[in-house]
Amino acid sequence: MTNWIELEKKYYMPTFNRYPVTLVRGKGARVWDENNKQYLDFFGGLAVTGLGHCHPVVTAAITEQAQTLLQTSNLYYTIPQIHLAELLVQHSCLQKVFFANSGAEVNEGAVKLARRYGKLKLNGAYEVITVTNSFHGRTLAMTAATGQPKMQEPYQPLPAGFKNVEFNNFDALKQATGFQTCAIMLELVQGEGGVCTPTEGYFKAIREWCDQKGILLILDEIQTGMGRLGTLWGYEQFGIEPDVMTLAKGLDNGVPIGVVMAKERASVFVPGDHGSTFGGNPLACAAGYATLKYIIENDIPGNAKKVGSYSLPDWKS
Ligand SMILES: Cc1ncc(COP(=O)(O)O)c(C=O)c1O
Repeated sequence: MTNWIELEKKYYMPTFNRYPVTLVRGKGARVWDENNKQYLDFFGGLAVTGLGHCHPVVTAAITEQAQTLLQTSNLYYTIPQIHLAELLVQHSCLQKVFFANSGAEVNEGAVKLARRYGKLKLNGAYEVITVTNSFHGRTLAMTAATGQPKMQEPYQPLPAGFKNVEFNNFDALKQATGFQTCAIMLELVQGEGGVCTPTEGYFKAIREWCDQKGILLILDEIQTGMGRLGTLWGYEQFGIEPDVMTLAKGLDNGVPIGVVMAKERASVFVPGDHGSTFGGNPLACAAGYATLKYIIENDIPGNAKKVGSYSLPDWKS
């Protein structure tokens, strides 16, 4: 039998501490290894396969699109892209979208958008405030945004223009805001940082502060979006609306995608400001459309709310 683990060690950069399991197949909440051993999958592709592995509706959409048109570049109009953009806008508080391929990439896009906003409307303000223990991705700029020194240390010097302040400390955010600030960027519930929730009133206070200062509130909903908090978007749980929101992970149930969404007033990109070769291609958008439509029509957020309220049995007794 092929020793896949040995081969991986030979060829792949050692960036991951992997479990000694080689997965070959998935269906619903289960995955199988090369020896046909079955596992219940609590990872879900790291918050990606919210509808389960190889969901038939998503698989059908991918199959059909793969037989029709995969890639055109963004120099042309494509119908799946427009369908997905429309569905996202119809079911959120935001009016414009931009598609890319991953979470880090759309967070970069959101920061670029905020900087364009700062240049155009805030006298050149460029700085983005983020919080400690956050996670926004692995690119250099998102490493600077991510408020975790252990991730930043190996890559110093990092791109300038980010300030990390203490999570759940509204006064620290206020004090860090200056004439150079164009946005505050946060996760609603910190995911990678350890499922850390905000204190009561934190987000409402931040929303009011952003309004008062005229700066943008960027919500990174890459983990909290797609129904995981019990509503389609996490912001609905906190009674606020973002100016900019980023999505990835669960939107495509396994096909790479990322989205920057913005309110009309924050949608300041003009042709040439930003782009992507693969972003928003017909395959990713067909998968995203099928996934999002299924999530909405089958009240998957309601199911998350229901199962999220289950309490653990007392395993000691
Ligand atoms: C909140 C949050 N933002 C951004 C990212 C980065 O996404 P990606 O790995 O697709 O670049 C992650 C990934 O775990 C995340 O949880």
